[in-house]
Amino acid sequence: MLKSMPSPPIDPPSRLLCGPGPSTVDPRVLAAMQRPMLGHLDPDFHDLLEEVVRMLRLVYRAPEGLALPLSATGTSGMEVGIVNLLAPGETIIVGQCGFFGRRIVEVARRHGADVIVVEADWGEAVPNAALLQALDEHPETRILAVVHAETSTGVEHPLAALGKELRAHPGGENVLLMADCVTSLGGVELEFERWGVDYAYSCTQKCLAAPPGMSPIALSERALERIEARDHAVPFSLDIELLRNYWTERPAVYHHTVPVLHIYALHEALRLVLAEGLERRWNRHRVAGAYLQQGLYALGFSLLATPTRQLAPLTAVRVPDDVDGKQVQEQLLRDHGIEVGGGLGSLAPPMWRIGLMGPNANQETADAVLTAFEEVFSQQPVLAAMAAG
Ligand SMILES: Cc1ncc(COP(=O)(O)O)c(C=O)c1O
Repeated sequence: MLKSMPSPPIDPPSRLLCGPGPSTVDPRVLAAMQRPMLGHLDPDFHDLLEEVVRMLRLVYRAPEGLALPLSATGTSGMEVGIVNLLAPGETIIVGQCGFFGRRIVEVARRHGADVIVVEADWGEAVPNAALLQALDEHPETRILAVVHAETSTGVEHPLAALGKELRAHPGGENVLLMADCVTSLGGVELEFERWGVDYAYSCTQKCLAAPPGMSPIALSERALERIEARDHAVPFSLDIELLRNYWTERPAVYHHTVPVLHIYALHEALRLVLAEGLERRWNRHRVAGAYLQQGLYALGFSLLATPTRQLAPLTAVRVPDDVDGKQVQEQLLRDHGIEVGGGLGSLAPPMWRIGLMGPNANQETADAVLTAFEEVFSQQPVLAAMAAG
């Protein structure tokens, strides 16, 4: 029988969130969510929307085109790009070397696209030359999509080089470059306009250090022209033209009731990114990631990503043979209050995924994770032997 009493108020434990996301939310971002609630059609709130858009352009380095956050997560950012920029039956090339590349493939297939998959092993990046060769074989291609920061493997795609090579490639001029920036925005160097990216999507719960719930996107002028010229129908809630009428046109045209408090949070998160300075923040993530990776090597671990492609905010660590990776994760959580991730999906090799994102991208947090791993090892014979030599 259903109990008729209400539950007690929530009292979640405090965690150090060092997994693939969500990351620890900056306390100033949490505080912003407690400011007075405004209505989504209040003119004062619309001023705030414009500030969010302005700051988002700065963080994406996207001065032209359009930037706005979707009331959705990273996956919807992916889907919004596909359904707005590609008609069913059109061709998309997808670089796939992990779980999230696969997800782009699935989303595009569900939309009825003709999907050309260019694969690399987990831990590698798909070579740009292979992507361009696929374009030679499929000159009808409308979008080329890659994951800038593959959270399932800790690999960074050389996106700057891809943008340059694509534009210089015969037939590349009219192909839209789409990048999954879910784990890179605000933590890894990203120059949307200068690198020639046409559509990027991200999330709020990783390097931006806000709660999950929004997906900041950016579109180039070329992508907007594609949208203006399209004649296929787009689901109402995903239609960028309608969303734009609320976010950037004035008077604002109601589309849906946006999550006001999440927008406060994103406003504060973007403000903090810009107050720190983008370059400085990228560098902080780079230094923290490298420090953690050195520490893991020193403990005897090997990493999944090929070293030249290693991502800073996310490190995938191979679980040594005979070690129960899940049990280690549980011990880290239970005894140390530290969350790290495991492998994602059935194709993933056994791994731990450690994120140092947002306020956690520092040496102190890396040390806390390394120390906790060491303590857990000492209780697992195989790991203790590994650490000893
Ligand atoms: C690279 C990448 N793309 C897409 C997603 C999907 O984002 P979400 O879980 O917010 O829908 C994630 C989530 O971790 C991700 O890491």
